[in-house]
Amino acid sequence: MSRVWKETSILNQGVFTVSVASKSRLVYLSGKMVPESEAKISIFDSAVMLGDCVTESTRTFAHQPFRLDDHINRLYRSLKVARIDVGHSAEELTQITSDVLEANLHAQRPEDDCWIVHNISRGILKHGPSAAQRNSATVMIFTNHMDLRGWARYYTEGCHAVTSMSRAIPAQSLDARIKNRSRLAYTMADAEARLVDPDAQCVILDVHGNVSENKGGNICVVTDGELKTPTTENSLAGISRQTVLELAAELGIPVRECRLQMYDLYTADEVFFTSTPYCIMPATRFNGLPVADGQVGTITKRLLAAWSQRVGVDITAQAQRQLDEEQGTCS
Ligand SMILES: Cc1ncc(COP(=O)(O)O)c(C=O)c1O
Repeated sequence: MSRVWKETSILNQGVFTVSVASKSRLVYLSGKMVPESEAKISIFDSAVMLGDCVTESTRTFAHQPFRLDDHINRLYRSLKVARIDVGHSAEELTQITSDVLEANLHAQRPEDDCWIVHNISRGILKHGPSAAQRNSATVMIFTNHMDLRGWARYYTEGCHAVTSMSRAIPAQSLDARIKNRSRLAYTMADAEARLVDPDAQCVILDVHGNVSENKGGNICVVTDGELKTPTTENSLAGISRQTVLELAAELGIPVRECRLQMYDLYTADEVFFTSTPYCIMPATRFNGLPVADGQVGTITKRLLAAWSQRVGVDITAQAQRQLDEEQGTCS
């Protein structure tokens, strides 16, 4: 059943309407495959009522899931610490995930890729004194088109990294390694950074003033040829961060996981973010000052090229092509 859907986005201060030929996608919802338009959860679900939901976002490259096992393993670690019983083994969940992807790949153009998202909540809340009195988990697995247009120009221009006013939730309260959907703190940090520059990407500090992470990404700096990134005492153990550490090792670039302060970003030769959709996003300004000469750094470019080579997809070209299509400048 083919249909055309319209997607409106605000990019480069303009409003564009893009028509994308698509077919209706299927979603896995607690034991059933249902059309996306019929995938509904209760307003009493713990995800809605409490933000009580763990999550994963995986992406494909050339329609192949990237490091799915690592994402599933991290999901099970989050589930365990959050004490949510998903009701499936990791093997079963991996199979279901592959089925969802398989069922939806027809909606994806060969040159594009997609997200695979897992949201697992504790289930529908039962009224009563015990927070543990709940039904079985709500398991949501869906795919979505990977829209990279918003990141495209950062690969060449770099973005503006800005510290937020709010600090990261300390691990004593909520360990950043639990990838969860309670996103209010991250959303506020993002909004605060955008008060300084509407186009800013936030750098969230922890309560001690150490650099932690971005609302949806990890942070790396390169100084005197050495790549440094905060430890996971205050940031998610990002799969992209891990990929960068591995690629750096392959390229002979020394790496160190350590505490970083704002000073380290101000004085770095290169700064970049890492996250599943964009992989590596260079930052060429930090709090209004240029990072080094204000250009995307050599090591950042080498890492991006090595990542593209590893997955067989030119990461920057894929994003740029989507942007060119939107702007009608595609040859
Ligand atoms: C808070 C936070 N930090 C870091 C990341 C990067 O993790 P990954 O590289 O696994 O996408 C994410 C991803 O969503 C995130 O939400």
